[in-house]
Amino acid sequence: METGKEQILDWMMGFFKAKAVTSALELGVFDALAEGPATARQVCARHDIPEHSGKRLLIALTALGLLLKDGEHYRLGEAASRYLVSSSPEWLGWLARHIDTFLYPLWSNTAAAIREGKDQRLAVFGDARSWFDILYQNPNDVVDFQEFLGIFAKPFIDGILQAFDFSRYRRFLDIGSGIGTLPLAVADRYPELKIGICELPQAAGFVREKIMSSNHAARIRVLEGDVIGGDIPGQEYDLIHLGWTLHDYAPRTQAKILGHIYDALPPGGAFIASETPLSDDESGPLFTSLLSINMLVSTDGGVEATNRQYLDRFRAAGFTNVQLLDIPGPRTLFCGEKAA
Ligand SMILES: C[S@@+](CC[C@H](N)C(=O)[O-])C[C@H]1O[C@@H](n2cnc3c(N)ncnc32)[C@H](O)[C@@H]1O
Repeated sequence: METGKEQILDWMMGFFKAKAVTSALELGVFDALAEGPATARQVCARHDIPEHSGKRLLIALTALGLLLKDGEHYRLGEAASRYLVSSSPEWLGWLARHIDTFLYPLWSNTAAAIREGKDQRLAVFGDARSWFDILYQNPNDVVDFQEFLGIFAKPFIDGILQAFDFSRYRRFLDIGSGIGTLPLAVADRYPELKIGICELPQAAGFVREKIMSSNHAARIRVLEGDVIGGDIPGQEYDLIHLGWTLHDYAPRTQAKILGHIYDALPPGGAFIASETPLSDDESGPLFTSLLSINMLVSTDGGVEATNRQYLDRFRAAGFTNVQLLDIPGPRTLFCGEKAA
């Protein structure tokens, strides 16, 4: 696609918009206006913000169409009420906090990451630990990460339930389940299936609480584990899913993960991985191509792959009947079996 000057300028200045929105969330502007229309003076007084600076933000949010202005009073537009007020079930503030705490600082070193061919965690945070060790050191950051990923995962879960038949299996394990919404949705639909979750120890408490407060507390087991170290239940689950996790790791680590999952399956079992792959001609899609840069700056060698690369990695790990299942929604399902 050819691109014009206006488009280039909009991309270059895009961070103005991003920071206006995430800053307004941090300052509680949308929550303040959820109480009712208010003048700039009233909003700023509520948050102890100087009016001369706070008003600039209110004007920008109005120009973005998030706020509406009646005389001197600002009020929330429909999208702001739905997605930017913290009491809304569709609140996107989790993502904004994750961006401000992790992604924005890391992306400011993108050129260095590309030049050096490595993540920028040490340069930006002065911390040489792994991505998930840094991300999960503060429980509030675990919540932000898992909650916004849960929002991203919703259309994928609707799609996989439409297109994949879980009834062919007896026991289902979701590794790296995050917020646990896939196992919960599968439990609703398939009352006979035994279900387990295996999560990193630092994230297992969060998902355990989600399961405990659901109506499937007695049915879904939450285990701590580490698929890279091979610390996952063996020969117990005949269907294993791993969602949006292969791309968090370097290809050689992915090979290790695939090998451990292959070993953990009983003969006749199946493995499915949901990912958002690059097209085989490596021309996009745009979101995945940018996500691959995000993986570079933040993770331990994570990188997006093409359909063909994922299928080849499955075969190299020993899986048979390897195939790609086009499911409705944003993700592609890669499927492999362990010969009976
Ligand atoms: C990007 S999130 C994806 C969450 C969810 N599965 C989805 O599809 O939206 C990756 C998840 O994998 C988990 N994870 C990362 N490394 C892992 C490991 N070595 N063993 C088990 N889980 C891991 C993380 O804690 C996180 O919940």
